[in-house]
Amino acid sequence: MIKEKNTSTTRLTEPSKPTENIPYRFSYWGPFVFRSKILPAECKMILAAGKKCRKKANDYRDQLAGQLSDEYKLQDRQEFSEWLEKYLQAYAVGYNKWRGGEDTLSNLKLHSLWINYMKAGDFNPPHHHDGDLSFVIYPFIPQKLIKENKAYTGTSIGPGGIAWIYGLGLRRYIDTSQHMPETGDIYIFPASLKHWVYPFRSKIERISVSGNIFCDTFLVKKGEN
Ligand SMILES: [Fe+2]
Repeated sequence: MIKEKNTSTTRLTEPSKPTENIPYRFSYWGPFVFRSKILPAECKMILAAGKKCRKKANDYRDQLAGQLSDEYKLQDRQEFSEWLEKYLQAYAVGYNKWRGGEDTLSNLKLHSLWINYMKAGDFNPPHHHDGDLSFVIYPFIPQKLIKENKAYTGTSIGPGGIAWIYGLGLRRYIDTSQHMPETGDIYIFPASLKHWVYPFRSKIERISVSGNIFCDTFLVKKGEN
């Protein structure tokens, strides 16, 4: 998002003047992007699973959009599904609340699962995923990357950050959601939602695990949203 510069445009209401207390409602629009934390033991398990699968036979790059040299298919899907389920259920509950309809997410199945070892100069361009929902988990974010990100002075989220974009980018719309991940973060989002990752220069590995979920149709009560 581009920060606006001060201009001489006349404002309709000067911020220093009190405004009338008008009661109002407003609509939430757009996708539901969920952020939570996984447990330290789950982070450890991911790192160990990644180590085990980090070999040529599991090279997954031909299925992914990234310009990364190390992306591997993870084999322990059943084990992942077992502990991941509680976060997916939390997403479903949160989504229902946010959407305000009679909604069900059922028969959730982990369809694909992979690990990314992103290095200095790698890039993950705007892309979306297969399936209904997708997630990304960060089992370890190195301090060097956090430091590089903090030193960044531009207007985007900066090195190592992730951004989701929705809609046409019209003015006055919130069309981007961007975050600098922390160790243990999990994000769950609609698989069709476009996102990308900003490159960085630190000589570290930014490790993330992603997967796609298929589930039965969302049943939303028709009516006013
Ligand atoms: Fe992605």
